[in-house]
Amino acid sequence: MCGIVGATSSRNVVPILIDGIRRLEYRGYDSTGLAVIGGADNATLERIVSTARVADLAMQVETRKLFATTGISHTRWATHGAPSPVNAHPHLSGGEIAVVHNGIIENFESLRERLRSQGYAFTTQTDSETIAHLVHAHWHGAGGGDLLRAVQLAVAEFQGAYAIAVISVREPGRVVGACQGSPLVVGLGADDHFLASDAAALVAVTQRVVYLEEGDIADVRRDGYAIHDAQGQRVERTVIDVPATAAAVELGPYRHFMQKEIFEQSRAVADTLDSIEGIDASLFGAGAAAVLAEVDSVLSLACGTSYYSSLVAGQWIETLVGIRCAVEIASEYRYRVSVPNAKALVVVVSQSGETADTLAALKHAKSLGHVHTLAICNVATSSMVRQTALTFLTRAGTEVGVASTKAFTTQLVAQFLLALTLAKSRGRLTAADEAKWLRGLRHLPAAIQGALALEPHMIAWARAFAIKQHALFLGRGLHYPIALEGALKLKEISYIHAEAYPAGELKHGPLALVDAQMPVVAIAPNDALLEKLKSNLQEVRARGGELYVVADLDSHLTGGDGIHVTRVSEYAGLLSPVVHVIPLQLLAYHTAVLRGTDVDKPRNLAKSVTVE
Ligand code: M6R
Repeated sequence: MCGIVGATSSRNVVPILIDGIRRLEYRGYDSTGLAVIGGADNATLERIVSTARVADLAMQVETRKLFATTGISHTRWATHGAPSPVNAHPHLSGGEIAVVHNGIIENFESLRERLRSQGYAFTTQTDSETIAHLVHAHWHGAGGGDLLRAVQLAVAEFQGAYAIAVISVREPGRVVGACQGSPLVVGLGADDHFLASDAAALVAVTQRVVYLEEGDIADVRRDGYAIHDAQGQRVERTVIDVPATAAAVELGPYRHFMQKEIFEQSRAVADTLDSIEGIDASLFGAGAAAVLAEVDSVLSLACGTSYYSSLVAGQWIETLVGIRCAVEIASEYRYRVSVPNAKALVVVVSQSGETADTLAALKHAKSLGHVHTLAICNVATSSMVRQTALTFLTRAGTEVGVASTKAFTTQLVAQFLLALTLAKSRGRLTAADEAKWLRGLRHLPAAIQGALALEPHMIAWARAFAIKQHALFLGRGLHYPIALEGALKLKEISYIHAEAYPAGELKHGPLALVDAQMPVVAIAPNDALLEKLKSNLQEVRARGGELYVVADLDSHLTGGDGIHVTRVSEYAGLLSPVVHVIPLQLLAYHTAVLRGTDVDKPRNLAKSVTVE
């Protein structure tokens, strides 16, 4: 989603601004731009934008031989106003102020009306343009010609979430940043300082960063920086060394990052389990033993694929631990009236740790009196990890493809470990069962390899799917969330309309959709629900529906007229969802490739959804 970079230095910052947003590119965007303080007088704002890729912006910069020592850059994922050159950031005011913005200013309409009455002309459909004019108005008013003061006055008027970086031709050598509900870091260089919405944008220039806290405002100059809190008090924030992750995001021999990430899952699961000798509360951080023993239920909050992994985990927890586990879509939980329980463990599950809806749900849960919080997350430096008391880091490695794959399987592993830990702390896990489940977990990388070997079958199925408009996914029990995940994967990258149902629900409505044009995917492991599922599949076949069944070797299902069966090599018991999802990821991937979509950056979507 939107990305911000700012830099001030004695050297040319233009390559830094371009490189920084290039590193954020994979998150999804539909326009990009930069503004620098340049010109012969070092007092002219130069703005360049593109509705193509960052590479196009880089070419324009190259052609114009742009040189500047202070500037800001941005990748925009459109919320207010279509992706267009005029709506691309940075936004300018009075030829003096330039602003880049992540988030949404909810009260922008009333601010815009007031600024209009003060003589400001608006040329874009964005909420962000309001910020530029408001800072400009304050700089010339109560801000007394000081950019920091002008930004402080402006943000005091905002409602909503934002991270901003602002420059002024009147004060070259200075970048002011502010954030509320959207992350921003200060990067510390030798003779230069930076701002970015993610430390990853700065790995080429620094690995020493300071994370701003809610309401902080950073005054960044080439030879230093100062941070002020929301009350205007000067504050110190911890300097953190972040690992250089640049090397981890090379495509290698793969055609797409999604394909690479699907095939990395054995390694990712093995890494997530690395050095785990036994089930122990310390896996979830210091102080976890007391918390996990005390909680009487679990409330999981997540979005998209992370939500589906939580749905599987909810069943594991109720089965293995015998305590209630409610699983809620983060964006819904926040806005409904719920009954808080201070003894519940609130688990937020997220690949990025920056999903605005999940962060907001966490904040909401805390405001209701929830005190026990745990993040299951793939990014150690993320907001979510910083805002929860306990943490389990999945070790999937950087996930670039918008369609989440290895994050999902590693989240499942992490949540299975959580279920085992909760069970053990209640005396519900015998030593024999602990050993059995650890063996099962350690066998997963091999079982995943077995499922990956089904790729040729999935390529064959994809040829049939690529020419369809709709698809139905069926599962039962633990595999209903896997059906949901399979449908989400197919729709988000191939743009085929796909829906998932618990198979028992078919006769209550969706069966009406089934005809020869509707491929029906069924996840059919050899579990207690298999015979029931087989009856559901007969109902489909009797209506002319073409079945694509993901079974396992013991499912006793054979292919035939209108029934295609593929088999994962074994039934992994409770852990079977981790294995059965693999063929569905491959099916979605190859269908999208055949349809020629932008697999890693599907239209309208972003990797990290940092707006509500
Ligand atoms: O970073 P998160 O796990 O919090 O992201 C949540 C969803 O936005 C994400 O899983 C999304 O649904 C994926 N694109 C699905 O492939």
